[in-house]
Amino acid sequence: MKKIDITISVQEYDKTEELNPEDRSLLERAKNAIGSAYAPYSAYRVGAAVLLENGEIITGNNQENVAYPSGLCAERVALFYAASQFPDVPVKAIAITAKANGFVIETPVTPCGSCRQVMAETENRFKNKMKLVMMGEKGKVQVIDGVENILPLMFHAEKLKK
Ligand code: THU
Repeated sequence: MKKIDITISVQEYDKTEELNPEDRSLLERAKNAIGSAYAPYSAYRVGAAVLLENGEIITGNNQENVAYPSGLCAERVALFYAASQFPDVPVKAIAITAKANGFVIETPVTPCGSCRQVMAETENRFKNKMKLVMMGEKGKVQVIDGVENILPLMFHAEKLKK
């Protein structure tokens, strides 16, 4: 037996002013997208903004359902819409943020496992790593280059090949 340690890389910024203009405005678009979230069950409203390599920005927000699993996270709403409108354009970055009822989200909103898997598919499909820019309602901003950092040991399409 040998033990393997896997390290991930996260950049942390104390405030949005420290971000480069592109990341900062993408995060602002994600924040604005919160306004159209439909989250009557969790009261946790999430906004996501996807920057494509052609400069287009597609936003999304969580869309819940009384049959809970039928709802969808903000990240996948944005990523699937982006892919449906621009099927040939790689994703450069995604920004994620949220607002809750009754408490202030003070730590970055990090995507759920299913959204990470969809991000992995997107990266693999276009052979293009994406940047993740994540923030709560206030507090620090975390930036990650490439889904590998939040989905170590991911399942690769190559593994399907005989
Ligand atoms: N949610 C997102 O939209 N994105 C995340 O990264 C975390 C969770 C949504 C799903 C559900 O509508 C609500 O937030 C509470 O889990």
